[in-house]
Amino acid sequence: MNERRTALVTGANKGIGFAIAAQLAARGFTVLVGARDATRRAAALSRLTGDVHGVELDVTDEPGVTQAAKEIRTRFGALDVLVNNAGITGDGTQVPGSGGLPEIRRVFDVNVFGVITVTEAMLPLLRPGARVVNVSSSVGSLTDMTAPAGGSLADMPAMLGYPVSKTALNAVTAQYAKHLRHQGILVNAICPGYVATDLNGNDGPRTPDQAATLAVHMATLGPDGPTAAFVDDNGPITW
Ligand SMILES: NC(=O)c1ccc[n+]([C@@H]2O[C@H](COP(=O)([O-])OP(=O)(O)OC[C@H]3O[C@@H](n4cnc5c(N)ncnc54)[C@H](OP(=O)(O)O)[C@@H]3O)[C@@H](O)[C@H]2O)c1
Repeated sequence: MNERRTALVTGANKGIGFAIAAQLAARGFTVLVGARDATRRAAALSRLTGDVHGVELDVTDEPGVTQAAKEIRTRFGALDVLVNNAGITGDGTQVPGSGGLPEIRRVFDVNVFGVITVTEAMLPLLRPGARVVNVSSSVGSLTDMTAPAGGSLADMPAMLGYPVSKTALNAVTAQYAKHLRHQGILVNAICPGYVATDLNGNDGPRTPDQAATLAVHMATLGPDGPTAAFVDDNGPITW
């Protein structure tokens, strides 16, 4: 059985998830690199050092996630950290009036139901005192999206998929925090800022490494750390 602290990161084959996996491994964690594609998973593992292992994980595949949880129990025993990082933005049909229900559902399937699917499957594996970090976005803040100037997506049309899915993810975070606080399990949502990854055509000013630092901080909070918080590098974000 594994004596090291063990962390599972979803969507860890690239971008912010990869950087989170690398930083956790550098801190001595056994890191389970959750990735849905075998080739991309193997490529990520080959670029990581430390005690890192691949786990097949498509967050929208409930039987597959259940299987992954069984495997993790058998091979690693339990989890000290779960980082729900996998996410997608969706395409332009999520603009109101564009008939984009299938796309909106697809975005929710990954960003919201995917997080619930993975967290439900991993709940029995979470050690007392474990940490759960959900990678959200300030664009899901109701305060941000109702700002008179249009908030952080002011230059984009209204969208029913991505930002709304992150609002829902924030609420999911709060509900798991409520459920788990009596076991000393802290559940928080973070906004990584605008980060250069494939998600945005590698356009952001921040690096995945910079973004990962906050996720790792929240994944390694002491017992007095917050739960049900929504934070970025500058501290709490208004919901
Ligand atoms: N980049 C930003 O500026 C920014 C800002 C705010 C929040 N975020 C959030 O940060 C998180 C990571 O995004 P990123 O910027 O690092 O994007 P990214 O480089 O596109 O990485 C997204 C990751 O999610 C994985 N993924 C997508 N669908 C999946 C599924 N069904 N099952 C399992 N994994 C799946 C991708 O795997 P594949 O390679 O197999 O597709 C990839 O590993 C997301 O939740 C995103 O919403 C990003």
